[in-house]
Amino acid sequence: MGALVEVDGIHVRYGDLVALRDVSLSVAEGEVVCIIGPNGAGKSTALTAIAGGVAPYAGDIRVGGVSVLGLRPEQVARLGLSLVPEGRHIFGTLTVEENLRIGGYIQGDRAAAKADMERLLALFPRLAERLRYPAGRLSGGEQQMLAVARAVMTRPRLLLVDEPSLGLAPRIIDQIYEILLDLRQRAALTLLINEQSSNRILKHADRIYVLRGGRVQLEGPAADLRDGEAIRHAYFGFGEAPVAPLDAPA
Ligand SMILES: Nc1ncnc2c1ncn2[C@@H]1O[C@H](COP(=O)(O)OP(=O)(O)OP(=O)(O)O)[C@@H](O)[C@H]1O
Ligand SMILES: [Mg+2]
Repeated sequence: MGALVEVDGIHVRYGDLVALRDVSLSVAEGEVVCIIGPNGAGKSTALTAIAGGVAPYAGDIRVGGVSVLGLRPEQVARLGLSLVPEGRHIFGTLTVEENLRIGGYIQGDRAAAKADMERLLALFPRLAERLRYPAGRLSGGEQQMLAVARAVMTRPRLLLVDEPSLGLAPRIIDQIYEILLDLRQRAALTLLINEQSSNRILKHADRIYVLRGGRVQLEGPAADLRDGEAIRHAYFGFGEAPVAPLDAPA
């Protein structure tokens, strides 16, 4: 069986700035794959490209074997993909429930959306308690949970999550990951997640890609990368020009 996501040598640019150069990656059905990289590495660009939000000028992207090139984001979503964007983009003046309805709306079937919402809220008790709150009044962690829950309302088979940890306390990050991994089991979700730091993700991901300067610097099973050394090299670029530690003997 082919991969659910196949990114094949894509190049993406914004005007003169080349954000991705010859990036290839794949995600198999049921996998948890993480893209790690520093600020400006191109992580968000990669997820946005997969979701149809920005078009590569070379290479191909297939979701479930179908090329997404030339498709609009809503057409790509119909292939079973949902993106939790960086910064969450929830509607602050709408209630939690209204935000979730917007997710369910895409699905079309009202009865099914209602049943989905009930099932989903069992996983997000804090959201269930705050259904009538304006989403803007939620804490950062709750807003992230809402963004994930809303994305899951569209019943995706593939969830792309852009920096779920951003700005959250370690305990809350753990809760978010617990929910994501729980969803993977219950909803048979495949996950592609961006993070700036590998600290937590190494324990949860099956495979890792390290992106820097718009290129894939390293890829491999998370289990092989747990000591962190190879990732540090790829992340900071020590690999190309070895730098002696300051206190190294001459
Ligand atoms: N809409 C845009 N227009 C112009 N340049 C952009 C745009 N979006 C991103 N870029 C540039 O493309 C490069 C990659 O950005 P991208 O947002 O993909 O990185 P990132 O790895 O997600 O970074 P961060 O960890 O800060 O979110 C950066 O140099 C960024 O400034
Ligand atoms: Mg980003």
